Amino acid sequence: MRTHYCDTVTEKALSQTVTVVGWVHRRRDHGGVIFFDLRDRSGIVQVVFSPENKSYFELAEKVRNEYVILVSGKVNQRPAGNINPNLSTGKIEILGESLDILNTADPLPFQLDDYQPVGEETSLRFRYLDLRRPQMQARFQLRHRVSHFMRTFLNEQGFLDIETPMLTKATPEGARDYLVPSRTHRGHFFALPQSPQIFKQLLMMSGMDRYYQIVRCFRDEDLRADRQPEFTQLDIEMSFINEKDIQQLTENLLIKLFKETLSVSLPQPFPRLAYREAMSRYGSDKPDLRIPLELVEISDLVKEVEFKVFSTPAHDPEGRVVALRLPDGGQLTRKEIDDYGVYVSRLGARGLAYIKVNDLNTGMEGLQSPILKFLPEKTVQAILTRVSAKTGDVIFFGADKAAIVNNAMGALRLKLGQDRNLIKGDWAPLWVVDFPMFEKGDAKGWQAVHHPFTAPACDKETLKKSPGEALARAYDIVLNGYEVGGGSIRIHHVDMQETVFSLLGMNEATAKLKFNHLLTAMRYGCPPHGGIALGLDRLMMLMSGSQSIRDVIAFPKTQSASCPLTDAPAAVDPEQLIELGIRVIPEEGK
Ligand code: AMO
Ligand code: AMP
Repeated sequence: MRTHYCDTVTEKALSQTVTVVGWVHRRRDHGGVIFFDLRDRSGIVQVVFSPENKSYFELAEKVRNEYVILVSGKVNQRPAGNINPNLSTGKIEILGESLDILNTADPLPFQLDDYQPVGEETSLRFRYLDLRRPQMQARFQLRHRVSHFMRTFLNEQGFLDIETPMLTKATPEGARDYLVPSRTHRGHFFALPQSPQIFKQLLMMSGMDRYYQIVRCFRDEDLRADRQPEFTQLDIEMSFINEKDIQQLTENLLIKLFKETLSVSLPQPFPRLAYREAMSRYGSDKPDLRIPLELVEISDLVKEVEFKVFSTPAHDPEGRVVALRLPDGGQLTRKEIDDYGVYVSRLGARGLAYIKVNDLNTGMEGLQSPILKFLPEKTVQAILTRVSAKTGDVIFFGADKAAIVNNAMGALRLKLGQDRNLIKGDWAPLWVVDFPMFEKGDAKGWQAVHHPFTAPACDKETLKKSPGEALARAYDIVLNGYEVGGGSIRIHHVDMQETVFSLLGMNEATAKLKFNHLLTAMRYGCPPHGGIALGLDRLMMLMSGSQSIRDVIAFPKTQSASCPLTDAPAAVDPEQLIELGIRVIPEEGK
């Protein structure tokens, strides 16, 4: 129908007769002349109908916002005062010669020309309208460019794009499974994959050598702004490699990707941080390194003080006492400090002690704090020295079980960074490495920190002797405080795999029941291999400057894992359930 996309009607097309199609973004009546901003996915162009064009002018008067129209007309220079420097088409307009209304539109539930956020429920119920917004169009065009880039990059490096099943068996990645009942095997269920982890390992055992897939993963877990029940990974696996090879490949991919799509130069190589150090300095295994604040351990300085709030966790092997210096934080009001106290208490902290350094040179006199009376001067001085305190600073303290301190003070660090405008630079990627193999689960013994197929950095005997100390050959890639990817070198000897399963509390029979396919395959010549998966949605959220991964997924789910557009999940016909042999137990009280 068209000769041009809207944004290609520029000065180059002056005096030509063009035909454009699209939606009426905005319609204005100016002293008897009608203007349309006509919008398609490329952008916006201005169309004018003057009363001289009698037959079409009358039709143009009938047009409303979001009508779908076809316009032909001559491209003219805009009058000097009407030039819009923000549009590629801002110097021209199309003088409408003919107009065809291809479809009308009812008034929209929210305006697109003067958009105001309408809330998640409405924007998702009318997602197809929400997606018409130029900002949304731009996000999905960027997403397309990114996935296209990824495929090209990996194709050029000899990777094969291979699909893996969606109807499969549970793959443990730490979330609940979405289950699909089988009609032909009554009482049996498929699980949707939490990731293609086992299949990509089997592909290495199949001799495919280098695999990738842009693949949907399903996890039934608590949702947050950076989590969806179905999301997309760029999933990669390689044989005969070590962690350096994968990290190098991933770094090269991201560096080139940022250069080509955003004209951004990422640092090379990405800095590496051991898990333990990340937790110690930032209270997080995904630190935002753009924020120049750090947690400083002071447990050793407060072991002997009378202040139990500090000395108890300082003696506890699982406890931790930290100081967090906020430069120039002395300007914070009492109310602001109290609000930060409320903030950390929501994250489990029992309080937020602080010292304001009004004047560093006048000893205890120059300090202001509710805890000074509990601390000997010597200790206070040692703390001030350790954190390199300066006049005008405030120092916050967290004392508790390490997990609570890390959670609360790590979050406070981020909040202070944002509130106080301390964020330096735009992009801070890093590798977090040397993760522990296992962590303590709730009463259930050990749990895999990455997944149970990750190789330990030690031998089998050492692993068995002290599983709690073993490090994993795993690595995460972190960008601006988000985990955008993770991977590992895998176990490729069956006896090591069995050892890990047994440390995870699986007896032989359970391991066989769950993973017989993997264990058997490993006995027939399994190459050393490893890989990584990048969270494409999280990466796109960051690259497009969005606040939530919902902004970069065309049809996302709400916070409660439902879809207002289709009303999924929904009840099904009783016959369908009978066929599947399923009876639903009603929720209590419903
Ligand atoms: P992992 O579980 O770390 O590793 O997942 C890899 C990346 O996927 C993204 N991600 C998510 N994005 C949106 N919503 C979610 N619910 C969600 N969960 C994870 C994150 C994460 O870094 N099979 C392994 C990879 C491997 O070992 O090769 C895996 O899935 O950005
Ligand atoms: P309290 O003696 O409980 O009134 O606490 C004295 C000060 O220590 C107050 O400023 C509290 O906010 C702070 N505080 C209490 N518990 C903790 C904790 N676990 N970590 C850090 N500060 C705390």
